[in-house]
Amino acid sequence: MRLFLDTANLEHIRHGVKLGIISGVTTNPSLVSREGKVDYRTLVQEICSVVPGPVSTEVLSLDAPGMIAEAREIAKWADNIAVKIPASLAGIEATSQLSKENINVNFTLCFSLNQAIMAAEAGATYISPFVGRLDDIGEDGMQLVTDIVEYLEYYQLPSQVIAASIRHSQHCMAAARAGAHIATVPYKILLQLIQHPLSDIGIKRFADDWEKVMGKQKITTTGT
Ligand code: G3P
Repeated sequence: MRLFLDTANLEHIRHGVKLGIISGVTTNPSLVSREGKVDYRTLVQEICSVVPGPVSTEVLSLDAPGMIAEAREIAKWADNIAVKIPASLAGIEATSQLSKENINVNFTLCFSLNQAIMAAEAGATYISPFVGRLDDIGEDGMQLVTDIVEYLEYYQLPSQVIAASIRHSQHCMAAARAGAHIATVPYKILLQLIQHPLSDIGIKRFADDWEKVMGKQKITTTGT
């Protein structure tokens, strides 16, 4: 499972990319707004220059012609753009048209298998079930990820599932078990993924055992 960062914060994106494990970024109007009043295009282009893979950038229009026009424009901003189109009838129409034009669509705000079936038929490159928001209303968000993955595999459809609205590190592991192609995680959760108390204890114990016998002896580095 690949990891994307779910943020529009450049500092966090640079750190994730430096770690070598972030192959894409997802943004949405709420995440971009968190960065203050920025120029949308400038911010997205800067993110695209930092990230090795797709950067999902959402349209703002709610009608199909508006979504299509905005998506065509956004797709020109960089080579690694995926245009986010929301789950609505207008969004399906826009996805169908844009996929014919080879514009990568991330079909977002997906809350049901029926929506995912339509998105896959429309040619969406990515489908983003929002796990946490389904959990919030007492449904099983991860079950939707499982259902969409199984559906796509059964019919050999090329759309990829991005497990989105990830709220904690358990969600990330569950997304991997469910077969999601990608999990897009907030920066705070990315930092939590590496944490395990036994790792910390083990690292300290190795260092203490070494020092007891070897003192301050270090590995000599040549600087090359
Ligand atoms: O990737 C979608 C995400 O940004 C939504 O997350 O926590 O607002 O449901 P959340």
